[in-house]
Amino acid sequence: MSKPPTRPPFTVNVANTPEEIQECMDIRKEVFIDEQGYDIRIETNDDDARCTHFLLVFESGDAAGTARVFKTDGQLGRVAIRKDYRGMGLGRPLIEAVHAHVKSTGGKEVWCQSQADTKPGGVDATGFYRRLGYVNKGDLYIKEGTIHQDMVFYLA
Ligand SMILES: CC(C)(COP(=O)(O)OP(=O)(O)OC[C@H]1O[C@@H](n2cnc3c(N)ncnc32)[C@H](O)[C@@H]1OP(=O)(O)O)[C@@H](O)C(=O)NCCC(=O)NCCS
Repeated sequence: MSKPPTRPPFTVNVANTPEEIQECMDIRKEVFIDEQGYDIRIETNDDDARCTHFLLVFESGDAAGTARVFKTDGQLGRVAIRKDYRGMGLGRPLIEAVHAHVKSTGGKEVWCQSQADTKPGGVDATGFYRRLGYVNKGDLYIKEGTIHQDMVFYLA
């Protein structure tokens, strides 16, 4: 029987410095462009300037994950954990840190456009968001050539 991976100590922080923002972009490039094949023109856009960025960092200083949330309407996106660190319970605290941040700014909900491609080789993150308490909002739709599902988390 395989042993579950050990999770090193970590923190989730708002990325403030240019170096921290660059680390977020590096993880996104690795996951969305190199791994999932998105076009760089789609992945990196002006929206980043309107978002708060989060970085999950191990005590060693190595960064493992990132996410962003729009300052205006609580839209979560660009959620990514580096491949080697998935499945060890890092995605959940990353998103919980986003929830805490949005709540602290008076937000009532966080929503996302989850990839929902259940075909072989497709990316379906809806199960991840559902485990975290998100519910579907509306129907499936195509965005940037991929099936998506809007999902929302109501902040208590
Ligand atoms: C989606 C992603 C962020 C999850 O990160 P992770 O660190 O592996 O997630 P966690 O280990 O914290 O999992 C949290 C829970 O969600 C579940 N889960 C994780 N990924 C899942 C998936 N694809 N489908 C269903 N459930 C999933 C876990 O089993 C866990 O459940 P539990 O709390 O009951 O044990 C990660 O797989 C990733 O970066 N994927 C590539 C980028 C991506 O597709 N992002 C989403 C874009 S919409």
